[in-house]
Amino acid sequence: MKDQNTQDLSWDEFDELRDPRPETCDFDHVVDRALSRRGFLGGVLAFGSGAAAMGAGLMGSTSARAMGPGGRFGFNPIPIATDATIHVPEGYEWEVLVRWGDPLFSDAGAFDPATGGTAASQERAFGENTDGMEMFVVGNRQVIAVNNEYANLKINLPNNDGGMPASAEDVLKIQNTQGVSIMEVTETGAGWQVVVDSPLNRRITHNTPMRLSGPAAGHDLLKTAADATGTQVLGTLNNCGAGKTPWGTYLTCEENFNGYFGSTDAAQELPEAFKRYGIGHEGRYAYEQHDPRFDLSQNVNEPNRHGYIVEIDPADPESTPVKRTALGRFKHENAACVLASEGQVVVYMGDDERGEFLYKFVSTAPYAEGGDTSALLDEGQLYVARFSDDQTGEWMALTPEATGMTEAEIAILTRQAASALGATTMDRPEWVAVNPVAPEAYCALTNNKNRGIKPNAGGDDTSVNGPNPREANKYGQIVRWRPEGGDHAARGFDWDLYVMAGNPTVHGDAYGGSANVTPGNMFNSPDGMMFDQKGLLWIQTDGNDSNEGDFAGQGNNQMLVGDPVTGEIARFLTGPNGSEVTGITWSADRRTLFVGIQHPGGTFPDGAGLPRSCIVAVKRKDDAVIG
Ligand code: FEO
Ligand code: CA
Ligand code: CA
Ligand code: CA
Repeated sequence: MKDQNTQDLSWDEFDELRDPRPETCDFDHVVDRALSRRGFLGGVLAFGSGAAAMGAGLMGSTSARAMGPGGRFGFNPIPIATDATIHVPEGYEWEVLVRWGDPLFSDAGAFDPATGGTAASQERAFGENTDGMEMFVVGNRQVIAVNNEYANLKINLPNNDGGMPASAEDVLKIQNTQGVSIMEVTETGAGWQVVVDSPLNRRITHNTPMRLSGPAAGHDLLKTAADATGTQVLGTLNNCGAGKTPWGTYLTCEENFNGYFGSTDAAQELPEAFKRYGIGHEGRYAYEQHDPRFDLSQNVNEPNRHGYIVEIDPADPESTPVKRTALGRFKHENAACVLASEGQVVVYMGDDERGEFLYKFVSTAPYAEGGDTSALLDEGQLYVARFSDDQTGEWMALTPEATGMTEAEIAILTRQAASALGATTMDRPEWVAVNPVAPEAYCALTNNKNRGIKPNAGGDDTSVNGPNPREANKYGQIVRWRPEGGDHAARGFDWDLYVMAGNPTVHGDAYGGSANVTPGNMFNSPDGMMFDQKGLLWIQTDGNDSNEGDFAGQGNNQMLVGDPVTGEIARFLTGPNGSEVTGITWSADRRTLFVGIQHPGGTFPDGAGLPRSCIVAVKRKDDAVIG
């Protein structure tokens, strides 16, 4: 496991390799599966006016009007790309805002591509693997809070054999490349820049002190030798997508936290509950060899203190981030916040693993502007989604009565609680986005090669089902739901598939995609998603960019824009080879769109030296508002 080849794996592949799932194939379900596919294809056209408009004829007639610089989309869609740079539509331009290793504080010094910097410099510089981000306006300053999800060891430790950390200094450096970067940005005559040494700049790493709050805080499973109270923790791990509360705080989401832990005692018997979360004897970055906190033989409870959503106040660099355990513990993708009809805070959240679930939290108290928000994300009800094949669904409350677990146990072992209720296994829920102009929310289900092939890590059946209708799903889909009565706090909802990605040039069946997928706009593996203020859905991809076989004609990862009403989808941006396009936010005047480019290949963006994850600023040449 600890050879350098594992560094080339995605997190999912890493987990699968370390914790292989039992192979099962339930042939009794073959007929059901075929029926489900037919049911889906009929169903997608039966749901609401938006879905009905997905027919190819209507789309063809509206395309010319919607696109182009003056249309609803505001651009002419671009073709795929397979090269080493970024492309945007005619009339738009892009520039790099910040790259891994660029200083946020002048004492970090200039980035050194020969070494990738030091532990000390990385703690004062922009982190690696940019991901979810949000813009905040603090006084007259614009501040971006952005996640630095994980490390690319061969790039971050270019002098080490295979990039593997060989010392405590190496591990600390890698820990300091990850977490969250908070930085003031400004637009000058020379373009967008980070305000180096701004009093609001901050790095949050794997060692930043944080507080645990909510039902799990103080539970025995959260206590360690260093923290007998179970309420104080160091660091936030594998920060993937993000969210923004109505009161102006940043939510960072801990996704593949399991991979950082290992045991220096190969014979150690690990707790049974670790299996569901993929916590095993060998960590991905050798932390356990050099930092005892990550060595399970010394700190078996440390992993229970990670896998949460963390609230950070970007306006106060001295504030202590808070892990909000009421929002559950799983591989958190993002946190999409919206207010319910009565003012309660609703947070939609996906658990990104094959066959895991979709959740929402509803606060007990309503949000009031200027009111006390300190407990809003501590007191409330966590729900998990059950989708029925008749295109209705229900949010099932994860209560002690329903699950047989205490509130603290539900908060710590959320996956087990959701399984107990028979939640619907999903095709890797990535970002959720809430439409600001219609009472509906969308979740990207990125792909799931195990759909219909293997159960999830809890043994739950993963036969094809309504919102996950294709076996061994390579392409992914976007499910959307409309809450009963238009109230995001409601228990019931109706759902349909906004799009089923696919390749219509290769497949003539459901793998060819839904009617709004064409040879001109096709893509695979939707992941990041955000609505703009007009109600257009920006979709980012993290998929197979080989441009071969089942993916021929789909090119590099990309960003597209979808119209929820007509179903139209148009390609806006293509990323450089090897990269994932992830993370999106706007400047305060919405004339600039910031987009994250994660793990580019080659030498992007500098054309020499190491490839560096970066945020780019996209503008219209006429300086008009985007979205
Ligand atoms: Fe970090 Fe599920 O993406
Ligand atoms: Ca993602
Ligand atoms: Ca992904
Ligand atoms: Ca990623």
